[in-house]
Amino acid sequence: MRRIETVSNTSRNIISEDLRQRLPVTQAGDELDHLAGSINAMLDRIETLMEDLRQVTTDIAHDLRTPLSRLRQRMELASRPGTDVEALRNTLAASVTEIDSILSIFAALLHIAQLQSGPRRAAFKEVDLSALLGTIAELYKPMAEENGQHLLEKVDGSLSVRGERELLMQLFANLTENALRHTPRGSAVSIFASRSNGKLTVSIVDNGPGIPDNMREKVLQRFFRLEVSRTTVGNGLGLSLANAIVNVHDAGLELADAAPGLRASVIFHTG
Ligand SMILES: Nc1ncnc2c1ncn2[C@@H]1O[C@H](COP(=O)(O)OP(=O)(O)O)[C@@H](O)[C@H]1O
Ligand SMILES: [Mg+2]
Repeated sequence: MRRIETVSNTSRNIISEDLRQRLPVTQAGDELDHLAGSINAMLDRIETLMEDLRQVTTDIAHDLRTPLSRLRQRMELASRPGTDVEALRNTLAASVTEIDSILSIFAALLHIAQLQSGPRRAAFKEVDLSALLGTIAELYKPMAEENGQHLLEKVDGSLSVRGERELLMQLFANLTENALRHTPRGSAVSIFASRSNGKLTVSIVDNGPGIPDNMREKVLQRFFRLEVSRTTVGNGLGLSLANAIVNVHDAGLELADAAPGLRASVIFHTG
């Protein structure tokens, strides 16, 4: 009874003041210790989640401040006396673009949160991946051409996976867009897909600057962008979203060195 009383008191302390406290585990190694161990593991998990939440909140505040300050400055300048209608119109148009990009940050964040909130397998259907990747290639050919880049497609026929079509489109669009956006003029981007040994692998390979070894985990975090990418279009949420979609499909995302360039592979286990 005394030990239960201790557990109860500690729990109250945790609730009221300090989430870092843990239940005492004695030398006895009995049922009560077992239970305390499990509860402590649960508290560890809650603490990690709280820490993540704090981090995300800070990141959002930080990342939205820049576009909002820019917007404010632009509007303030335009509101000074003497601004002609033409200039006002330009300011409004630029402001709308800025607001759109802020809205797209919120849309992506909500999308990621929704994907992480739980399983959604019920909506899964058989998706024709060969056709889907063909569509992606068609969609991005104009952008590649405009950038003086080559977009190649080497996709085997009749590949399919269980999943949600819209999400898979978004996933491969994000990876293809990255390969086109983060590589210079004249680069080549290839979309490969094939099946072997119960695995279906889709790889988006480019021959650009790639991502250094020690950054390949980091780029999956919300808002993280390499220093060299600061001036390119984007919000640093593309790979976070891609990763969340991959997880929902019980697939794996691998970023590897394509020497030179990046090889982003999505591996589905098809059994
Ligand atoms: N194919 C690529 N080649 C080089 N760097 C890349 C590539 N894909 C992603 N990155 C790096 O990873 C960062 C995060 O990517 P992402 O989350 O899609 O954000 P965004 O594209 O909006 O910057 C990019 O800013 C870039 O620095
Ligand atoms: Mg991106």
